[in-house]
Amino acid sequence: MVGQSKILSDFLVIGSGIAGLSFALGAAGTGTVTVLTKKDRKESATNYAQGGIAAVTSEEDSFDVHIGDTLSAGVGLCHEDAVRLMVTRGPDAIERLLEWGVGFTPLSGPGGGWDLGKEGGHTKRRILHALDQTGIEIERALVAAVTAHPRIQVLEYLIAIDLITSAKLGRAGEDRCLGVYALDPARDEVVTVLARATLLATGGAGKVYLYTSNPDISTGDGIAMAYRAGAVVSNMEFIQFHPTCLYHPQAKNFLISEAVRGEGGVLKRVDGTAFMKDVHPMADLAPRDIVARAIDRELKATGDDHVLIDVSHRGEEFVAKRFPGIRQRVLEFGYDIARGPIPVVPAAHYVCGGVRVDLGGETSLRGLLACGETACTGVHGANRLASNSLLEAVVFADEAVRRAAQRLPDLPAPPEDVPDWVPAPAVAEHEAVVVAQNWDEIRRFMWNYVGIVRSDKRLARALHRIELLQEEINEYYWNASVTQNIVELRNIATVAELIIRCAMDRKESRGLHYTLDSPERDDAGGLHDTLIVLDPDSRKPLLTEGPLTSGPLPRR
Ligand code: FAD
Ligand code: SIN
Repeated sequence: MVGQSKILSDFLVIGSGIAGLSFALGAAGTGTVTVLTKKDRKESATNYAQGGIAAVTSEEDSFDVHIGDTLSAGVGLCHEDAVRLMVTRGPDAIERLLEWGVGFTPLSGPGGGWDLGKEGGHTKRRILHALDQTGIEIERALVAAVTAHPRIQVLEYLIAIDLITSAKLGRAGEDRCLGVYALDPARDEVVTVLARATLLATGGAGKVYLYTSNPDISTGDGIAMAYRAGAVVSNMEFIQFHPTCLYHPQAKNFLISEAVRGEGGVLKRVDGTAFMKDVHPMADLAPRDIVARAIDRELKATGDDHVLIDVSHRGEEFVAKRFPGIRQRVLEFGYDIARGPIPVVPAAHYVCGGVRVDLGGETSLRGLLACGETACTGVHGANRLASNSLLEAVVFADEAVRRAAQRLPDLPAPPEDVPDWVPAPAVAEHEAVVVAQNWDEIRRFMWNYVGIVRSDKRLARALHRIELLQEEINEYYWNASVTQNIVELRNIATVAELIIRCAMDRKESRGLHYTLDSPERDDAGGLHDTLIVLDPDSRKPLLTEGPLTSGPLPRR
């Protein structure tokens, strides 16, 4: 399948997290699959997931209750059709993961069943987990299954730069995705990867913000590439901030799972007083938007750098057994979660919006599908319910497999004369300085102006800055040879712009979007999705309101 610089397969999957790998395993039943991934195949947000995967597997739970909890966390913007599909297919998704070899933590003792965890916004215990390292276990099993599959090839350390579309090549007829140009930094070569159907599964975009729980790969590449290719993107104003990341200068990105609060962990001020009981009836297990905002308020009111989380009252033996990964990691920084409180702060965690897809994972561009965190299925609305994202990825990957197989007969192989990448004339000068400066600037103003609490003025400032920086980045991009740093910087800038524009368009506060200028919900004006697309003629962003359903999308 691998030519010198052109690769062709039936399905191209960009990303090797839970979404990409579960799609690859399903699609290999219909055709050949190439998985591109920009680092080692295991490196993904999936690999860092802690709490687990939500699904109805117990007699005490029901589909209606899981649907109700998801809708209530999403504050009126979830697409009920998508939520119903995800929840009712949940048990099958768990079965598939078990068949692929994932080992979830069972209940101890006779009787069987799973040790179900609880997190914010859930009214029942329904989270399957592998102690506190669920992501490592899922990724281990999926990588092993994919690596052993004869019809799947995984190409590591290849970074997708831009989608190839027939419109970009100036071909007549309905626009269609033909594949992607991808940079091989080791050989300093751009490879043309073609496919009959392409799936974007590049994960989230936490690196747009100064503080994030996300790994370095989360630079929003798929969202930015899809937007540049003319696909509809939606709801980018809804960025989820996880309430509890370890506060320590060297503890880059380390999350303290919400499952800790699920097992009785209490958020406290530095003086030791608990505060969530005065904020919400579910106290420390309120939905994430509410908890993150409450912490932000506390930090501003007290002037402290962090709050505390304390689960030590559950006893050293229990905490050490239930949270071995978290305990081990925080011990490295001199804290013992089994014996006392530890310092935490909120950090950017999850993109609820993304590339708009229908119930079969199809985007508005023919031949392009998306799933996982890159996609906006409509499931999360204005705020994602904890542990619903791993579930969403597996369920919608399966739907996308079915849809892609159905579409394949109408998607001929891309034409043989797709041109190679045209290299820029010059080698980048002073690249490290330019990239570091722009990257740092974006992440800092996104944190300060487009973070947990926003305002019209802050958003206007952020837009002004991103427009200036984008001019500079684009000039640099088109005139210097392409590198991984410049690709990621360009994507971060695009995603930052999408977040700012969508946030400016929503004139109310709802779920994760909170603005001081309109602090209340506006059910008369706010019950819609925010759609953003690059106008093909003017090359300017076009914002419209979208319906709260996940039916088929109009094609360009
Ligand atoms: P990812 O797992 O992020 O995979 C993206 C893949 O795309 C990676 O392989 C990456 O290298 C590749 N990629 C990106 N850009 C390119 C490019 N340009 N070219 C080639 N490859 C590219 N959710 C839950 O439901 N439960 C949890 O317990 C949970 N815990 C979490 C804990 C942490 C610390 C974090 C960060 C997130 C957590 N989440 C959790 C969220 C969840 O893990 C993610 O939403 C989910 O794993 C995303 O899966 P994905 O397959 O869409 O993307
Ligand atoms: C966590 O373990 O707190 C993360 C869960 C999630 O993001 O769904």
